[in-house]
Amino acid sequence: ALERTFSMIKPDATRRNLTGAITRMLEEAGLRVIASRRVWMSRREAEGFYAVHKERPFFGELVDSMSSGPTIVQVLEGENAIARNREVMGATNPANAAEDTIRKVHALSIGENSVHGSDAPETAAQEIKYWFSDTEIVG
Ligand code: CMP
Repeated sequence: ALERTFSMIKPDATRRNLTGAITRMLEEAGLRVIASRRVWMSRREAEGFYAVHKERPFFGELVDSMSSGPTIVQVLEGENAIARNREVMGATNPANAAEDTIRKVHALSIGENSVHGSDAPETAAQEIKYWFSDTEIVG
């Protein structure tokens, strides 16, 4: 089915000028960018976005890194967009990511893994809503 998912290009990647290269990989995977904005998130915004991880040992490091520079927040649309996006991103830890995936090609480490993508329909809806109003999404 035609789905929407939320995607974020993280500060480690914008810092290395990879916004275009990563967006191209998403597009080549059959995903269409139907909303996009560059945002330097505050610590509060990062804490809110990643609230599900707040008890994890890496939470502080995650919030530091996500608020360390600009990110690109995007809504992607396509057939099975959630699964397709996860496939083209590759495993969370780049050491385990398959060949030709974004994280295999571009990520530096598990913390600096260049992209985030929603893992399920419920989180996709929540994450899209966290960053975008309906009028900003032009499908
Ligand atoms: P992401 O898909 O954005 O969701 C949570 C992030 O936490 C994850 O990608 C990683 O970048 C980051 N992270 C940092 N350390 C770890 C870890 N040990 N295990 C899982 N995720 C981690």
